[in-house]
Amino acid sequence: MSNEPEIRDAQPVDVPKLVSLRGGGERFEQTMLGYLQGTYFPSCALADRAVFVGTVDNVFAGYIAGHRTTRHGCDGELQWLNVAECYRGMGVAGALIERMFDWFIDHSILNVCVNVASENVVARTVYFRHGAQQLDPHWLVWPNLSAR
Ligand SMILES: CC(C)(COP(=O)(O)OP(=O)(O)OC[C@H]1O[C@@H](n2cnc3c(N)ncnc32)[C@H](O)[C@@H]1OP(=O)(O)O)[C@@H](O)C(=O)NCCC(=O)NCCS
Repeated sequence: MSNEPEIRDAQPVDVPKLVSLRGGGERFEQTMLGYLQGTYFPSCALADRAVFVGTVDNVFAGYIAGHRTTRHGCDGELQWLNVAECYRGMGVAGALIERMFDWFIDHSILNVCVNVASENVVARTVYFRHGAQQLDPHWLVWPNLSAR
């Protein structure tokens, strides 16, 4: 057992696990499935999107999702990031963020935003550690992912 996070593409079969980290029940399950299958478009979203799952010792530990957008003049938005409580502090979010950034860069999406509550100190710390800058009280931005 390495305890090192591993990252893979999410599949529709993962949806119940993804939803279990956020609550929201069946409605959010439909939203997540639609996001994964390209039929649900968050505000300003375009078609390109990706969802990745993080595992530790082959056990589901968290996920990240992001898409192409026109929001805030950015090319990309980080839509969701959640890590199960028992796997926090092990670098799962860091590994997910790096995989998501690789996907953005592969798709020439270099200017990326994320909505994060001002009181969410942990998430903000993680994003700032990964090079984010403050856009306004509710949004952080990576102005150029390839220059981080
Ligand atoms: C934010 C979240 C994704 C981080 O996941 P994680 O896998 O624990 O993150 P990592 O292990 O990659 O990084 C942990 C880092 O969090 C920070 N952190 C952890 N606990 C913290 C605390 N109590 N206060 C401040 N920072 C803290 C530290 O920077 C830590 O880095 P270090 O301990 O290695 O120096 C996770 O806490 C989570 O799912 N939170 C609920 C959902 C959420 O807020 N999502 C983001 C919405 S925008």
